[in-house]
Amino acid sequence: MSSYKTQKTPGNTEWFVKDRFGMFIHWGLYSMPARHEWIKSMEKISEEKYDKYFKYFDPDMFDAKEWAKKAKESGMKYAVFTTKHHEGFCMFDSAYTDYKCTNTAAGRDLVREYVDAFRAEGLKVGFYYSLIDWHHPEFPLDHIHPRRSDANAYEISKDRDITKYAEYMRNQVTELLTNYGKIDILWFDFSYSGAVQPQSWMKGKGKDDWEAEKLIALARSLQPGIIIDNRTEIDQDIRTPEQYQPQEWVRNPNTGELAVWEACQTFSGSWGYHRDESTWKSPEMLLQMLITTVSLGGNLLMNVGPTSRGYLDHRAEKALKVYADWMKYNSRSIYNCTMAEPEFKAPFGCRFTQSNDEKRLYIHLFDYPYSFLELPGLAGKVDYAQFLHDGSELLFLEKSPGHFSEGQTQSENLLVIKLPHVKPDVIIPVIEVFLK
Ligand code: GLC
Repeated sequence: MSSYKTQKTPGNTEWFVKDRFGMFIHWGLYSMPARHEWIKSMEKISEEKYDKYFKYFDPDMFDAKEWAKKAKESGMKYAVFTTKHHEGFCMFDSAYTDYKCTNTAAGRDLVREYVDAFRAEGLKVGFYYSLIDWHHPEFPLDHIHPRRSDANAYEISKDRDITKYAEYMRNQVTELLTNYGKIDILWFDFSYSGAVQPQSWMKGKGKDDWEAEKLIALARSLQPGIIIDNRTEIDQDIRTPEQYQPQEWVRNPNTGELAVWEACQTFSGSWGYHRDESTWKSPEMLLQMLITTVSLGGNLLMNVGPTSRGYLDHRAEKALKVYADWMKYNSRSIYNCTMAEPEFKAPFGCRFTQSNDEKRLYIHLFDYPYSFLELPGLAGKVDYAQFLHDGSELLFLEKSPGHFSEGQTQSENLLVIKLPHVKPDVIIPVIEVFLK
């Protein structure tokens, strides 16, 4: 067993750290303006105007089974779906609001279709639930609320009672965790109690406003074992670095212990469908994000933002295909793998992962080193080596320093793997090393 011990948490993360790769799905009314899921706040869009999206939302091409199939083909083992984002629109049939998909042309419970389809493909099922709500009449205004600069902002906000909103959240979380069978992850988003406010009467929001302790206790009573994130401002099972690549295993900042962590990333910077965004990540970047994350003991939750008609556009399909093609042959270096033991140090241009049973080391070649890969410290430890994608043998030499041509690494116990000069037709080739 891997020697890395993560902090104990209340939920069951055993499956999670084996599965490693999930699909985030950001889908809501914001897929219609198609210029970021925060659009209501960014452009301070009025209720009347935003209501147009409610009026015309019609996901006529939504086929949850197709999404589930794509997620599975891409090597993803679980998913997290936005049941409600900051705009407040509910993608499920809630008894506590009219602002829900069943009252649009969709005419049906979209969360249910998601749950059924993903579960049928054998994927674990998670819910994202926004703590922020820019539609709810009891949600007080603050620095990110769409109404923050209205002339009558104070008047709008002054009688709002956040305890009523906290109760609304408990009611909805009860619905979500009661009506859809076993739910594996609950992803709350997000807190900002310390945020500087433009008006003295405004207040950032955090665990006390959400009554997070109660909310979490409720969730745990309904779904024991469920994984909950840390964005209520109360540490639970997972830490969730967003849109950046941690450089080391993420720790609990309070205790210093290794955390169970999950990076969340986008294809193009926006979480919701963004029609005109053109900074889509390259295939290399997509794969590197997954590999580097697992090489540091983390999971990757990769986001798709479906169109308002309910399908994944060609750019998202292309990006998913990158994962599908690579994972088809290389998933062994991802599932059931974690950071390599400290004795194994990855050389320049490589990332290591190691199987949980410690028997196999995986060398990911971000920079293809041509004829030789020099691995200081590995001589005497390797029984057999092969390319993972085709299971073809890779010969290796164990020599003392000075044997090879000039400029080689001066190191004790140097192991040198001989490689074909030309990189195989795999975006990131992987060497599978069977350790002695
Ligand atoms: C942020 C954003 C949000 C997105 C989320 C994903 O907190 O507010 O739009 O859903 O991160 O991590």
